[in-house]
Amino acid sequence: MGKRLDLSSPAMFIGRQGNGVISFGSGQPDLPPPREAIEGIDIRKDLRYGLIQGELPLREALAREYPASTAKNFVITNGASEALDLIFRAWGKGKVLLPRPYYYSYPPIITMAGMEPVYTDLVDGRIDIDDFRKKVEGCRAVLINSPSNPTGRIESIDTLKEIEKITAKLGIYVISDEVYKDLIYERENYQIKGEHVITVNSFSKTYAMCGVRVGYLWSSDQKIPEEIIKIKTHTSMNTNLVGQDMALNAMAAPKQYIKDQQRIWRERRDLIYKSFRELGFDLWEPEGAFYIFPKCLNPREFVETLYLEHNVITYLGEWFGAPSHIRLSYALDAEEIVEGMGRIKEAMKKVRCM
Ligand SMILES: Cc1ncc(COP(=O)(O)O)c(C=O)c1O
Repeated sequence: MGKRLDLSSPAMFIGRQGNGVISFGSGQPDLPPPREAIEGIDIRKDLRYGLIQGELPLREALAREYPASTAKNFVITNGASEALDLIFRAWGKGKVLLPRPYYYSYPPIITMAGMEPVYTDLVDGRIDIDDFRKKVEGCRAVLINSPSNPTGRIESIDTLKEIEKITAKLGIYVISDEVYKDLIYERENYQIKGEHVITVNSFSKTYAMCGVRVGYLWSSDQKIPEEIIKIKTHTSMNTNLVGQDMALNAMAAPKQYIKDQQRIWRERRDLIYKSFRELGFDLWEPEGAFYIFPKCLNPREFVETLYLEHNVITYLGEWFGAPSHIRLSYALDAEEIVEGMGRIKEAMKKVRCM
């Protein structure tokens, strides 16, 4: 036991579905995008190259959501993933502070850009501001993600304001990955501000359009988009134009779409959290995003057994810098969550989890 699968990364699980598999793996919303997103799309006009920075109507629509901004403050990217990649590559050296556990792509994106990740360990799933203050000295940037993948926790507004203050004083950039900003169960989103803030966001989660690959970055400092455009010109060039049309349409959908989604996610959160508690797991109640992060005594064995013997995909906490946890996404309908939890209960008879 323990060595039956290549569990060096989530690669073997991403995109896997069908054949009765229940996947608590990828953070891929199963809900439909707003109806408006695909209405009136004319593929023929999108068969050309587009602006590297992104189509103007989409950037203008985004500018209306960011105070004191214009279209020049944005670059439209192939998902939040490309935005992050381009930001770090534009710098190419220096340290980046990462709260740990982290989204599993952060350390590779940072190191592939030639930068060095350094870590501040979360305490009870939240940033310890004293440790943050110590570790951030000498860094070029800090990358935060609230609500968090994988913990499902949100940072308090006080902590976010303190991060603004500390980094502004030291002239350190804050990259705020807000892909889950519309999915907070506890309060409104707090948009971190300042000259050195770079916000990264995406249409993947809020509008359930992961496969279309549209995201963006925003900075009040127009030099950042300019530097990013220099790289993107020679790499992916423009972001998918059909996707940008869909994103613009999605933004025009009634805000009720987002409210309705939140209600569904909250119901699923309540269901899965209650089920795990009943099974006796030690875990936090998710406050945002759609992830749950229970502690597990034998995570590798459990993840393997669940997949090979029960057709259930779960992710190892070690991919997120937390080896004593497993991570589950609850982007599944209630029926599948119930079925999946039943299988988890069965697998617990074979592997000691606590
Ligand atoms: C925290 C976080 N950032 C970025 C991404 C990537 O998003 P996108 O599909 O926009 O590239 C994900 C995807 O799961 C994520 O969880």
